Amino acid sequence: MGRPKISVIGAGNVGASAALKLAELALGDVVLVDIVEGMPQGKALDLMEMCPVSGCDLNIIGTNSYDETEGSDIVIITSGIPRKPGMSRDDLVSTNTKIVKQVTEEVVKRSPKSILVLVTNPLDAMVYVAHGVSGFPKERIMGMAGVLDSARFRTFIAMELGVSVENIHAFVLGGHGDDMVPLARYTTVSGVPITELIPKDRIDALIQRTRDGGAEIVKLLKTGSAFYAPAASTVEMVEAILKDKKKILPCCVFTDGAYGIKDTFVGLPVKLGKGGVEEVFQIKLTDDELRQLHVSADHVKELCQRIHELGLL
Ligand code: APR
Repeated sequence: MGRPKISVIGAGNVGASAALKLAELALGDVVLVDIVEGMPQGKALDLMEMCPVSGCDLNIIGTNSYDETEGSDIVIITSGIPRKPGMSRDDLVSTNTKIVKQVTEEVVKRSPKSILVLVTNPLDAMVYVAHGVSGFPKERIMGMAGVLDSARFRTFIAMELGVSVENIHAFVLGGHGDDMVPLARYTTVSGVPITELIPKDRIDALIQRTRDGGAEIVKLLKTGSAFYAPAASTVEMVEAILKDKKKILPCCVFTDGAYGIKDTFVGLPVKLGKGGVEEVFQIKLTDDELRQLHVSADHVKELCQRIHELGLL
């Protein structure tokens, strides 16, 4: 049995950081694809030369063509433009829809049995686009957002309480935008809900910082958006699938009735294993949490509608 094959489309900040992490964890052979000539080849060779030091026996190829991606088990799509200061993720919709559409067409021709993990923003709408173009079953298409948003929330809680990030479990559901839904009741420090440990006004402040987490980094970087945490979050999902971990993670998935939401893509807790999205995990939400989740899902639906109105799909 050969090693798993993971293709990463877009060898920019997120793509290259994901490839680095995939190689360090020795999760499989990696194919890095980008339109910029020489860049994916250079980064792949650099990563290959890291392998003797890291002790990973893998093939890492960089290319400007899709032929090398043939037969991939998982394809991570990061191609597209990132935000600049002052932009919302939704502002990227025209450019990135065109890129994700073209990339998905190329990918699915050569890897019809793969699992697609989208990272390009606006995330939920881009998963919708890739789903429409690929025709893949809903189990084999997902987007990375909830793991990242939850990681940001976990970081801020750990900083607030001065405890290990490893003790903190958090659930951030909904779309990857300003109306994401951090669930304080289900966010715990070693099993204890943060609602018992942190005053409400501080929780509200941490939630707001989480919602603005991407923008905070865009403002600091000035020329692009976050990439280390997004890459690590993507690789956590890939690892859960390849190792058939049955790990519960918040991911952007198709919902056909779960949580009362129909026919859209939005962040929900799911079980990830070798089949991809194996189950939507149902947790009890209060009326207010459910309302927030529906507002967020409606926002995704509107953006998907706009994609059609603009004639992009
Ligand atoms: N095919 C392949 N690669 C492409 C294409 C295409 N059609 N169009 C653009 N790319 C490549 C670019 O050449 C670039 O190398 O995608 C890469 C994107 O990398 P960065 O500009 O560094 O952006 P990054 O920070 O990696 O973010 C990528 O992920 O988190 C999201 O919002 C972010 O949408 C953005 C995406």
